[in-house]
Amino acid sequence: MEIIICENYEEVSQKAAQIMLNVIKDKENAVIGLATGSTPIGLYQNLIKDHQDHQSSYESVITFNLDEYVNLPKEHPESYYSFMHTNLLNHININEENVHIPSGLGEDIQANCNAYEESLKSYEMDIQLLGVGRNGHIGFNEPGTSFDSVTHVVDLDEKTIQDNARFFEGNMDLVPKKAITMGIASIMRAKKILLVANGTNKADAIYELVKGEISTSCPVTVLRNHPCVYVVIDKDAASRL
Ligand code: F6R
Repeated sequence: MEIIICENYEEVSQKAAQIMLNVIKDKENAVIGLATGSTPIGLYQNLIKDHQDHQSSYESVITFNLDEYVNLPKEHPESYYSFMHTNLLNHININEENVHIPSGLGEDIQANCNAYEESLKSYEMDIQLLGVGRNGHIGFNEPGTSFDSVTHVVDLDEKTIQDNARFFEGNMDLVPKKAITMGIASIMRAKKILLVANGTNKADAIYELVKGEISTSCPVTVLRNHPCVYVVIDKDAASRL
């Protein structure tokens, strides 16, 4: 695990974008795993800037997102589909047919999960981007999730609902209570993993990742079993190391 400690969020975003860009520039049809949340927004801005200034191309790049809420229409501004289009996909030359975001809509959500996992398995993921929850969740794999899990439906943890209420008028009642997420085993198949975090509210999760026991009670600790992980964090997130 390579831990890169940065001065601030801007530096986290630049360094992490550089790691991502190296993969994209190395391989025309790179397969990249994407995340939502506030942390990767700066990284995505750097990718967009590089695309505009240096013509980095996404023409053959294939993307898979980690997760999506269940029963939130795609057009809803807080759906992860909308998030990805607003913050990255609308600003780069990606082919929409190469974009994969789980669907939390329809009668049979389990069938959506199975189809997503099959599609994911048919590619070799070059790099998976991750944020981390205060409770150590990755994707929406909350504490207690099996390390063998694949794409599945989850009931969101109370802490996660509280944290995400900021995107839903500060109202926990408006936050969807279920989501689809890649499982921990799905994430661990990626050749490289890039985890970004900033702020003191992530310091406990980062401490567990680096120094805690590898345990399903803190899902991010599973990354210590992966051969190639970059952890790009600011001084605040690193404050307990
Ligand atoms: C998002 C995701 C989540 C977030 C995590 C941190 O696709 O899977 O695990 O990465 O909740 O979110 P932020 O970056 O908003 O602190």
